[in-house]
Amino acid sequence: MSQSQETLSNLLQETRRFPPPAELAESANVTAEAYEEAAADRLGFWARQAERLTWAKHWDTVLDWSNPPFAKWFVGGELNVAYNCVDRHVEAGLGARVAYHWEGEPGDTRTITYAELQREVSKAANALLELGVRKGDRVAIYLPMIPELPISMLACARIGATHSVVFGGFSADALRTRIDDAQAKVVITADGGYRRGKPSALKPTVDEAVKDTPSIEHVVVVRRTGEQVAENPRDVWWHDLVERQPDEHTPEPVDSEHPLYILYTSGTTGKPKGILHTSGGYLTQVAYTHHAVFDLKPKTDVYWCTADIGWVTGHSYIVYGPLANGATSVIYEGTPDTPHKGRWWEVIQKYKVTIFYTAPTAIRTCMKWGDEIPAEFDLSSLRVLGSVGEPINPEAYVWYRENIGGGRCPVVDTWWQTETGAIMVSPLPGVTEGKPGAAMRPLPGVEADVVDDQAQSVPNGGGGFLVVREPWPSMLRTIWGDDERYVKTYWSRFDGLYFAGDGAKKDDDGDIWLLGRVDDVMLVSGHNISTTEVESALVSHPKVAEAAVVGSTDPVTGQAIVAFVIPRGNAGAEVEGEDFVAELRGHVAKTLGPIAKPRQIMIVPELPKTRSGKIMRRLLRDVAENRSLGDVTTLTDSSVMDLISQKLPSAK
Ligand code: WT7
Repeated sequence: MSQSQETLSNLLQETRRFPPPAELAESANVTAEAYEEAAADRLGFWARQAERLTWAKHWDTVLDWSNPPFAKWFVGGELNVAYNCVDRHVEAGLGARVAYHWEGEPGDTRTITYAELQREVSKAANALLELGVRKGDRVAIYLPMIPELPISMLACARIGATHSVVFGGFSADALRTRIDDAQAKVVITADGGYRRGKPSALKPTVDEAVKDTPSIEHVVVVRRTGEQVAENPRDVWWHDLVERQPDEHTPEPVDSEHPLYILYTSGTTGKPKGILHTSGGYLTQVAYTHHAVFDLKPKTDVYWCTADIGWVTGHSYIVYGPLANGATSVIYEGTPDTPHKGRWWEVIQKYKVTIFYTAPTAIRTCMKWGDEIPAEFDLSSLRVLGSVGEPINPEAYVWYRENIGGGRCPVVDTWWQTETGAIMVSPLPGVTEGKPGAAMRPLPGVEADVVDDQAQSVPNGGGGFLVVREPWPSMLRTIWGDDERYVKTYWSRFDGLYFAGDGAKKDDDGDIWLLGRVDDVMLVSGHNISTTEVESALVSHPKVAEAAVVGSTDPVTGQAIVAFVIPRGNAGAEVEGEDFVAELRGHVAKTLGPIAKPRQIMIVPELPKTRSGKIMRRLLRDVAENRSLGDVTTLTDSSVMDLISQKLPSAK
């Protein structure tokens, strides 16, 4: 979006509105007053939210911003994050409450109460101490979605060690780079986990990675699948080490700014960035947002976030936010289609899940599989639905609301990033009238805005860049070991503003719509066109489940729009023909205007996605421009690109 600020904003005619259900609005945790309260005294507002936590020593100053962009929140305060997530609930008499209903992919289950979690975390903390891990040391965690994953994270927090969770789908190379960058002393892993009905090994990847990581002193191995693993001198079995530990441990208070974790984001270029989150401010904002955005009632709700704990969504909204609030959550180990495509809905039915949080990519996949699958299950327990990770196309939003939410549950589209640590822009389910496709307003206490090239706030109806004007409690504190890159990446594009890298627009009511990464915006005949808007137009066609759009160099228009489309499961055979392509081009022209009409549309069976489910438009650009493919290492399934290439006409 380098030149004009013109967007398609006013062309996208989304007029459906969904007011909050009356019953929810009446008993909502957070009402419209919160916005006023925060606007009147932002720091006072956050100070009150910090009172949700139990502090070993109260802070003196809410925010120290004397050395921007390096923030310190709740300065002088001390607390222990694991104590806040576990022990204090047990001390309050809630030890028998379920913290996690864990469901393994093969159907094995484990129910973990807060009292049990306290014992398990204490044992794991004692085990880490026995291995010589001390406050400030880094621990790498490379585990499947099993209870030992949150237990390990909390054990680190309990002793003041900083964890670095590496998603279990990453390669030995990726793991090695992350271990080296953080100089981790210990890595906690498992023989493997279950995925798509089979054991999927992890230990060989760790063996490969730690051949070359001098900082690693011990490899702790959880037995999950029982498959044979190589045993190396540094290895120790979790069950040998942890099970014999005392189940009591006194948590150590740490400074509010003590590093809680590092989480690496790959970004599009260069070496991964180690995003650093600290303790007091982070826990304050994840606890507040989980309470406010999901309207969590810890006594009665059963909450399920389907993300992998290896991503920030899992850190903030499976582990820290829900536990700080004393919630009962579901954790599911495997894939949504194992052993059948209704597995998620079966889990909701089984545990009577009331709050469900997932990603647009998953919703669109379920749309593709067909409406009849969720229809077979009792989803009447649900009351709030959430979305995160990408812009949610209006059609996917409405499908989610109708087919999963039974038309009665509000959908909260939550915008945030690994860097922001917690939700920043989102509807409040008891306050906001929902608009399909809009993330709506910054949460109380968050100063997000949309600005133009010159850093000026755009008027309603305008488009530009999403920024944050003021520091927020859960913001990243730096890039691990690279302050300069932190300043350059996030605080240099606009003087004094945090630059998120996302395009956005304000509609006529001033509500915010996300338009995708700035790198993905196309410039067609002098118009900025967002990939998101064209994708949403395609998905609004009844026969389309999912679409990805890229800009391809064009001699006439500068860039031309190329679309890749996956038809819905029930769309029939005609979706292969030229007529269908013509129909789709016409549909986009009608919805967005002729300027947005794709030059070319390819019907494909799958789309390339990153391991966290985001469409890799970079690879599709390579295809559209007839180049050989760039780096495919972050791709979930590399055979997808073969499937797409087979569909290509030999000439463009
Ligand atoms: C990027 C951050 C935050 C947890 C998961 C992703 C995109 C995220 C939304 C949303 C539109 C969204 C943005 C953002 N994104 N949520 N609700 N609407 N876009 O974390 O991997 O750090 O990615 O995801 O582009 O910058 P992440």
